[in-house]
Amino acid sequence: GVLPPFANQPPVDFSRAENRDRMRAALEEVRSRLGREYPLLIGPDEVRTGDSLVSESPSDASLIVGRSAKATRDHADRALSGAEAAYPSWSGRPDRERADVLLKAAAIMRARLFELAAWEVFECAKPWQEATADVDEAIDFCEFYARRMIDLADPRRRDVAGETNRLSYFGRGPAVVIPPWNFPLAIPCGMTAAALVAGCPVVLKPAEQSPVMAWHLVSILREAGAPPEVVQYLPGVGEEVGAALVEDPRAAVVAFTGSRAVGLSINRSAAETRPGQRHVKRVIAEMGGKNAIIVDDDADLDEAVVGVLASALGYAGQKCSACSRAIVLDGVYDAFVSRLAEAVPSWTVGPADDPDSAVPPVIDAEARDRIERAKADARSEGRVVADVDVDPLRDRGHYVGPLIVADVDPKARVAREEIFGPVLAVIRANDLDDALRIANGVEYALTGGLYSRSPAHIERVRGSFLVGNLYINRPCTGALVDRQPFGGFRMSGIGTKAGGPDYLLEFLLARCVTENT
Ligand code: SER
Repeated sequence: GVLPPFANQPPVDFSRAENRDRMRAALEEVRSRLGREYPLLIGPDEVRTGDSLVSESPSDASLIVGRSAKATRDHADRALSGAEAAYPSWSGRPDRERADVLLKAAAIMRARLFELAAWEVFECAKPWQEATADVDEAIDFCEFYARRMIDLADPRRRDVAGETNRLSYFGRGPAVVIPPWNFPLAIPCGMTAAALVAGCPVVLKPAEQSPVMAWHLVSILREAGAPPEVVQYLPGVGEEVGAALVEDPRAAVVAFTGSRAVGLSINRSAAETRPGQRHVKRVIAEMGGKNAIIVDDDADLDEAVVGVLASALGYAGQKCSACSRAIVLDGVYDAFVSRLAEAVPSWTVGPADDPDSAVPPVIDAEARDRIERAKADARSEGRVVADVDVDPLRDRGHYVGPLIVADVDPKARVAREEIFGPVLAVIRANDLDDALRIANGVEYALTGGLYSRSPAHIERVRGSFLVGNLYINRPCTGALVDRQPFGGFRMSGIGTKAGGPDYLLEFLLARCVTENT
């Protein structure tokens, strides 16, 4: 039948006691299931390996969330053989059947919303609200891409006297999906669902830090009707199994979201044609950001302070969309900086399962050490206005205290390089032109923001702040599927828009058939 129009999944309202109770119950239930083993899923086989990836809880390093088997190059080879063999029949199925798999998966995730969110709390230290929002986004991707595929399935006709022309789409071939851990259900689900509905069998190589969430995703898609060869689960070390999948001549599409360094190396590797390869690989790479919010001298400072902090400290700054630069006009600079510093202590650092924590721990010890090194450098690049000490929590997990440094030179490292942690550089701008020059003066172009009450300034920034997602008078994170198609350009990515009307085209090839009648 005809589907109702797409609508975003509404956020869970945690001001209601019943929702808090459901989340607490889900956390208890999931806690009793921690520590299990997760095999590779290659075709119909559950494959156990001698070696495993251990997924630890960032909030409490003594909690083991699960152990996943660790794939090697041989497993990558087997998985891609299965994907290649399954490709003709999967891409040849009626589009509506593939779309129905996504719709069924969305229904399963909706029914398991609190439980899946609870897994995220443990595995990735997502705070309650953001964990449920991540499940909501995964549901949205399935519902949205199912509808887009149904729309694209109707061949476009251009007939003239004596000639019919039909343009139609089909899946490119096996897709390798390499997601990050920071949106541990939504991003893997979005990339995988798009590939599947387009007709591309998927080999999913999850992030090493979140193999359990990816296992749930693959299980749900299979339960929803995806044949085993069409969605396979291959956790392992990126440099080994990820590299093998990208290099393989059978891979037609590589969909990656993660760091700039890995994205560029995937792009380079995928560009090389290897023996037996009969196509040019399509790479989708969504990478980092050095996102700025401009604060105009007539901005509502109460809103600007809250919006900048939410964008900078939400999920401890571990979002490619996070704000890491506040560019503040001279007229309000001193007032803004002092109010910003005063507001930081209300952002409590603590474990993700505690609903009172606002800044959760970062993903792992390596991330904590890297961010602490970047903080040490940043302290010498400006005036420290907030530097939160988390010593009492240090032994429990990977906690990092927020750092805000003001009077930063736009050329300083803290103003140019992505840190992926709770670190904010505040930069003074003489006027709006200067602010725009600074804002556009980095290598990334993902998100950006403006707080202003001047219609003329809003218009100028709308036209001249060149980022993929620009937000005016609101935080610069939290894009919603369909409403804010997400993705950037320059070193932030190839320019694709996840959750947007054109995303499926990345996974599709088009044929035009002309008949002389
Ligand atoms: N889509 C996320 C956001 O908008 C980032 O991946 O925050």
